[in-house]
Amino acid sequence: MGKTKIVVAYSGGLDTSVMVKWLSEKFDAEIITATGNLGQRAELDNIEEKAKIAGASKSVILDLRHEFAVNYLWPALKASALYEGAYPLATAIGRPLLAKMMVDIALNEGAEVIAHGCTGKGNDQVRFEVGIQTLAPHLNVIAPLRFWEFKSREEEMDYAKKHKIPVKATKDSPYSIDENLWGIAIECGVLEDPTNAPPEDAYQITTNPKYAPDSPDEVKITFEKGIPVAINDINYDPVELIEYLNEIGAKNGVGRIDMIENRVVGIKSREIYEAPAATILHIAHNELEKLILDRETFRYKQSVSNKIANLIYDGLWFSPLFKSLMAFVDSTQENLTGEVTVELYKGNVRVLSRNSQFSLYNMKLATYTEEDIFDHRASEGFIKIYGLPYKTLSEVLNARKEKGVV
Ligand code: ARG
Repeated sequence: MGKTKIVVAYSGGLDTSVMVKWLSEKFDAEIITATGNLGQRAELDNIEEKAKIAGASKSVILDLRHEFAVNYLWPALKASALYEGAYPLATAIGRPLLAKMMVDIALNEGAEVIAHGCTGKGNDQVRFEVGIQTLAPHLNVIAPLRFWEFKSREEEMDYAKKHKIPVKATKDSPYSIDENLWGIAIECGVLEDPTNAPPEDAYQITTNPKYAPDSPDEVKITFEKGIPVAINDINYDPVELIEYLNEIGAKNGVGRIDMIENRVVGIKSREIYEAPAATILHIAHNELEKLILDRETFRYKQSVSNKIANLIYDGLWFSPLFKSLMAFVDSTQENLTGEVTVELYKGNVRVLSRNSQFSLYNMKLATYTEEDIFDHRASEGFIKIYGLPYKTLSEVLNARKEKGVV
């Protein structure tokens, strides 16, 4: 019998580097590291070398950016998925894809264990493990951070030094940062006190709106069936489209979010996000829905969006309900084709114009000029019947009052 094989979700940082060595010693295991490129700006070039030095026998690095954009971000955008009304869910949407990557690698390599470097009080452990359980219920998961002996970063550093694992000598960021194409999440340090305004150094990519350019940028976004395909009439590949909007949005200070949120494990946390592209695309997409969707579909979709955002946040991307609700969403996007022009200016995204061949906006019905074709007199009967339940109720209550009964 060969050694146990463990697939380790590997970022190249201190935790996961120490984890590779620690697991190989503790379990006398063969370690295969798995790293997915979801568009984080962190160096991926020397990942393989780092993993090998830490003790891995093999390092798999996959560029998942295209799959991430097309199969994960576009569905979330079509669903208008914003957690607690604000967070575009960058980290939360990335986790199921990374879970799938780890499962695929484990199956390929004949590994029976997957290990990750999430802590015991976050959402990401839930997302990884529920994802893995759903995709490959026979695999085992180990989360060393929940039970290993290291109590601090310093202790991990000592272990790394002892085992000749190279760790950055440079002073680490005081924040915990997670990044992908859809946005950056920043927490810890002074941000843990919700009375503190975020210091400027918390922000990684966006210009402070105060110092953003004095002249705005205009961006026209073309959607086809709910998916952005072109900017200013130039077609873009999905990854490039998102990168372009991140850049131009960040320059104009767009996409800063500072919020208190409810975690899956029951605690509230304070998080800073920077998500320029996601912010711009959600605003533009929503504007198109206002123009195109009929009233009842639009209203119903708002509650579905909220439910989908909760499912994504709570680690249930691969659940039957998510799949069913997405079928509804996809059906609503059938006519979601058109253009929206927005202006980016000092942290704001302002819609300038919207247009679609499927627009339900009818100028002849909306106008207050003599072009008007709306049947004003029809409103009289409509309102009489529409308001009838409330008229009836008031009559009953008033009659009781008159009789002196309350
Ligand atoms: N609170 C966010 C979420 O659960 C982001 C967590 C990302 N981690 C971090 N180190 N900031 O989706």
